[in-house]
Amino acid sequence: MNMSRREFIKSAAVSAGGLAMMPGMVFAAPARAMTLRAAPFEQAVRTGGPRTNFWGFNGGVPGPVLKFRKGESVRLVVQNALDVDSAVHWHGVRVPNAMDGVPHVTQNPIRPGDEFVYEFALPDSGTFWYHPHQSSFEQVPRGLYGALIVEEDEPIEVDRELVWVLSDVRIGDDGRQTEDFGRILDVANDGRIGNQVLLNGKAAGAELAIDVRRGERIRLRLINAAAARIFQLGLAGHAINVIAFDGQAVEPHVVENLQLGPGMRADLVIDCMQVPGGRYLLTDSHRRNAGPLATLIYSDARPLRDKPLSAPIRLAPNQLPEPDLAKATEHYIMFQGGMRGVPVIGLVDGKPAKTHELMERHGLAWTMNYTARHEHSLMHEPFLHLNLGEHVVLRMINETDFVHPMHLHGHFFRVIAVNGKKVTPQPWHDTVIMGPRQSVDVAFVADNAGDWMYHCHILDHAAGGMMGTIRVG
Ligand code: C2O
Ligand code: CU
Repeated sequence: MNMSRREFIKSAAVSAGGLAMMPGMVFAAPARAMTLRAAPFEQAVRTGGPRTNFWGFNGGVPGPVLKFRKGESVRLVVQNALDVDSAVHWHGVRVPNAMDGVPHVTQNPIRPGDEFVYEFALPDSGTFWYHPHQSSFEQVPRGLYGALIVEEDEPIEVDRELVWVLSDVRIGDDGRQTEDFGRILDVANDGRIGNQVLLNGKAAGAELAIDVRRGERIRLRLINAAAARIFQLGLAGHAINVIAFDGQAVEPHVVENLQLGPGMRADLVIDCMQVPGGRYLLTDSHRRNAGPLATLIYSDARPLRDKPLSAPIRLAPNQLPEPDLAKATEHYIMFQGGMRGVPVIGLVDGKPAKTHELMERHGLAWTMNYTARHEHSLMHEPFLHLNLGEHVVLRMINETDFVHPMHLHGHFFRVIAVNGKKVTPQPWHDTVIMGPRQSVDVAFVADNAGDWMYHCHILDHAAGGMMGTIRVG
């Protein structure tokens, strides 16, 4: 039995009651049009704690959960009430190029006091998100991000959906954000990692507890909106049942732990079948000796069901253009740089430069194909030209000692090989992690015309040279 749309909304609304303390976690009713207003505001990340200065959409961190249906056309008005330029990118949504939200590439920046209207159809269901693409290394960690959920034609049969936006913030004892965005020390290392992990804008920890009932079936949508932090997630007490990566369906399977780099998403199914009194802990093994990020607790003795799922819940796949490896052309992108890297000799504005020169003179620390890219020059000059409809294998070669979650706009790609070895399955992603000294091959059809950003989603790395433009058509 499939829940009708109305029942689905009703069940989502019922769930909202018990979760009122966690803003942004429960869906607003579906709507076609939506206004997002970027403005500074303050909120405490810990109950009773000092207030933190954020920039957010519609006065919240995260911004509102935008929820639409597959195929729907949406109109998103972005108002800029900041005193700096901005523009909003719809991460993972296959939009027409002009709606991609990249200032100086697909549109002019939205000036303070101005607005921009984004209008596009939603070709794929799944878990997506939105964030500025202007000075992302500052605007995202200041709080400008939110979830964008596109519901399937036939929603899966669960009792509740949770949207958990993970992030972090770097704050002092007074709760104020430290104003140290874009420091070369962060840019050339792991990026600006915060000292407080946030889940839907609240301090992660044992206090973040959600009541569940035995037998309850939950779809958990996880989004990593952090500027630089990579999560290594575990779910103590329950297997990690993945049904989607980056919004795209995968064959339901269990993973040992879930590495979620900035920009990446995963959808899980949790079948609450522990004995009463049990609990599930969302953990991050990158934070040694730290407690759980959040806890699901059986607090209601009345079971909802007493049988587990008899078959795994699976999502209907979206229609994505299938790359044909037999006729694909190969392209290579090599990455160098970083603090621990060998001294790079790269080009800046066409002139050779060494690592220390890149860092001191340009605030850059990374090169792509030996060239350091930065704003208003090479970053926006396409470094790769693809024909419209071209089948492509992109081999990304990481010659650095750092992890890089690489993101391509406007397309989804299959991850087909790691270190030259074929992988199975070959999931669709829009963002994929390249481990240190690792090569990763992805394949896709360049079917969306325009200039598309391709960059590391550690936003300091992107600002420090790991961002370029791929021209399709
Ligand atoms: Cu999530 Cu180019 O961005
Ligand atoms: Cu990176």
